[in-house]
Amino acid sequence: MLNKDRMPKHVAIIMDGNGRWAKAKGLHRLAGHNAGMQSMKKIVDHSDKLGIKYLTVYAFSTENWKRSLDEISGIFKLLVKYVNSDLKGLVENNVKVKLLGDYSTIPGDAVKSLEKTIEATKYNTGLQFNIALNYGGRDEIKKALQCIAGEVKNGNIEPNDITEDMISSYMYTGSKFNDAPDPELIIRTGGELRLSNFLLWQSAYSELVFPDVLWPDFTPEEYEKAIADYQGRERRFGGRK
Ligand code: IPE
Ligand code: IPE
Ligand code: MG
Repeated sequence: MLNKDRMPKHVAIIMDGNGRWAKAKGLHRLAGHNAGMQSMKKIVDHSDKLGIKYLTVYAFSTENWKRSLDEISGIFKLLVKYVNSDLKGLVENNVKVKLLGDYSTIPGDAVKSLEKTIEATKYNTGLQFNIALNYGGRDEIKKALQCIAGEVKNGNIEPNDITEDMISSYMYTGSKFNDAPDPELIIRTGGELRLSNFLLWQSAYSELVFPDVLWPDFTPEEYEKAIADYQGRERRFGGRK
């Protein structure tokens, strides 16, 4: 049973294992990504039901461009299909969609559909659903540094004025873009025990949970188990009782 008083405000998920799921079934990798989208949809709905305020999913990393053109364009097509077919549901469920990452280089039709969804859901006040697309933690930190260096160069601030809060505000999750708190919980499915360039700055004190299932098999029950695992952790932030 979940403790309603200890629900994380922000859950971030590395949705990994689509390719292996497809391979195990003798299917094309894209069938795995398609099944992964269905999982994502269920987890968005369930996050809303659980009263989670922010859900961030890692959908495509800055390193995923190394994959075949077929796979890349297939992933974006599936994403367009998902946002278009689910737009009504997202609006009805009061979900606010946002993007994390540099989407200047992603296919134009995907940007259009996503912008439409962001626009249509921007006044919603329920779950904030952040889709990390062409997202890389190092790229995000680099961009933040470029902005802050610009402020210093223009004489608006001195190097000593730079604070951790200021750096946070320049992250995609920060107050200049999304205003999401750091995630209390990061879940990675698929069996790999690494962050793969996800939320490097924001994950300083996140609890990490690695359910041993491939993303298309990740159910709301598995999700609740991961949250229960988080609720059982003692968070010390470097202090002692
Ligand atoms: C995660 O699944 C989805 C993306 C990275 C887009 P993978 O495609 O990485 O699946 P595996 O790791 O090959 O099983
Ligand atoms: C991380 O998974 C990226 C996403 C889930 C979008 P990868 O499959 O790309 O990570 P590695 O290559 O196993 O580290
Ligand atoms: Mg993978």
